[in-house]
Amino acid sequence: MSYEIAPAICPPRRVLMGPGPSDISPRVLSAMAAPTVGHLDPYFLKIMDELQEMLRQVFRTRNQLTLAISGTGSDGMEACVFNLIEPGDKMLVCVNGVFGGRMAEVGRRAGAEVVTIEKPFGEIFTASEVESALKEHQPKLIGIVHAETSTGALQPLEEIAKLAHDHNALILADMVTSLGGLPVEVDEWGIDAVYSGTQKCLSCPPGLAPVTFSPRAVEVMDQRKEPVRSWYVDLSLIRNYWGGSRAYHHTAPINMNYGLHEALRIVLQEGLEARFARHQKNHEALKAGLAAIGIDYAVAEENSLPMLNAVKIPEGVDDKAVRAQLLNQFGIEIGAGLGPMAGKTWRIGLMGEASREANVLSFLAALEQCLAKQGHTLTAGASIAAANKVYAG
Ligand SMILES: Cc1ncc(COP(=O)(O)O)c(C=O)c1O
Repeated sequence: MSYEIAPAICPPRRVLMGPGPSDISPRVLSAMAAPTVGHLDPYFLKIMDELQEMLRQVFRTRNQLTLAISGTGSDGMEACVFNLIEPGDKMLVCVNGVFGGRMAEVGRRAGAEVVTIEKPFGEIFTASEVESALKEHQPKLIGIVHAETSTGALQPLEEIAKLAHDHNALILADMVTSLGGLPVEVDEWGIDAVYSGTQKCLSCPPGLAPVTFSPRAVEVMDQRKEPVRSWYVDLSLIRNYWGGSRAYHHTAPINMNYGLHEALRIVLQEGLEARFARHQKNHEALKAGLAAIGIDYAVAEENSLPMLNAVKIPEGVDDKAVRAQLLNQFGIEIGAGLGPMAGKTWRIGLMGEASREANVLSFLAALEQCLAKQGHTLTAGASIAAANKVYAG
């Protein structure tokens, strides 16, 4: 039998302005192409140490247990939940989007007695709503999403973390989309466990999940009565490889770790504050541009994420046709709405490397053309003029 050999990989050139992955710096790609060494090679152990230290800086924490789980953001979610929950424990999850819903499901699969509080997609929780739930349910763990990529909403965490501690609960935060694009203060806010992903504002390909755990969370893990129900994400084993005895657990994805190492160097070289300001500026320019051609945000401005812009699709405009034209004619990827927002919103990402003035301006120009084709009334060039005004200001 003869088989045809598939052609070599030759991806089209895209500008990744969706909900992730985001554009990747050539520096990260070339770091990933460096020669693979063994997972216990002294060179790789040094890379792991440096990577942990850089992650602590980006998370703004001194937590010893800070490392990158070998898997995507969802694996980071499982690592946090499975290690902190024992069957029968109560877990409160705040659900206002797809990823809060996923965290609740992971909690159930870890054997937790999960209770949820819910808000419509796009809205956020007030501290007093969370406090009532903490009082009523007395959970061991509360899970909440900092930056809900499915809705574009930013959830403030500081007050909620204090309340969690007042009620003797640990707090777990999903920072998959916020890390590297928005202020994240793990120690100052008192967050006990965090997971993130590489493919959003860190601008590294998908494949690793940075996590960090407070000493309180580590104590809870150390006092477990039964082993973690997932062998792969059992941190009592994984942490011996990232520190301690350096015992083999699984073969680390070496070149992914090279990529994250370089991505973190880029983040720290730019500086966290400068990076947050860049994300905010490009968000403001995009928002001004969109407003000038009659496109509104799906989320209130005060709750709006700078790196994920969820906007309402104008009446009479074909969602799929516009996204296809952007992709096929201009090479620009944006995201569709999720859950109840499907067909009603677009999700425009300005994450990491993709959060650039050039991307905002070329996207607006391309969108004007797509919208005009759909019969949407607009003044040609208005979006670009409005965005340029923000950049000039
Ligand atoms: C907020 C949030 N949490 C979790 C995830 C899951 O991450 P992954 O798709 O990398 O498994 C995502 C991915 O988009 C996300 O945006």
